[in-house]
Amino acid sequence: MHKKRIAFDYWVYESMEQLPPPELQLMDAAIKSRQNAYAPYSGFRVGAAVLLDNGEIVIGNNQENASYPSGLCAERVAVFQSGARFPGVPIRAIAISAASERQKVDKPAAPCGNCRQAIAEYELRQEGGIAVLMMGETGAVHKCTSLADLLPFAFGPSYLE
Ligand code: THU
Repeated sequence: MHKKRIAFDYWVYESMEQLPPPELQLMDAAIKSRQNAYAPYSGFRVGAAVLLDNGEIVIGNNQENASYPSGLCAERVAVFQSGARFPGVPIRAIAISAASERQKVDKPAAPCGNCRQAIAEYELRQEGGIAVLMMGETGAVHKCTSLADLLPFAFGPSYLE
């Protein structure tokens, strides 16, 4: 028996203005795409923007439904749209921003477990990590360089071989 440890590095930018220009542009797209969220039930609006290897930016926002589980998170709307429109083009980064009608979201919004699972499969299919940039409505941005950092022990296609 032996003990193992999982650790990873992530970056904290005190504000989005500290981001390098391409990532600032991506976060800007995520913030803008929040405006078109359909979130009448939660009042929690999320925007996501995916940067592809070909330079395209593909956006998404959460789309809720009166039958709650039928709605979809912003991150999956964005990555599924990128897979549909640009199949096989690697994803380099995803930026996420969230704001709520109920409270000021000043801490970085982390992708939910289902979105981590969905993004992980895109990362597995390509060469190179998908950086994840997370932000609330205001405040710091957290950045990790690979989705795998956020989903240790991920379930994946190797179990199905
Ligand atoms: N939501 C996202 O869009 N992304 C996440 O990672 C977490 C949650 C949405 C789903 C739902 O519309 C609302 O936020 C409240 O859970």
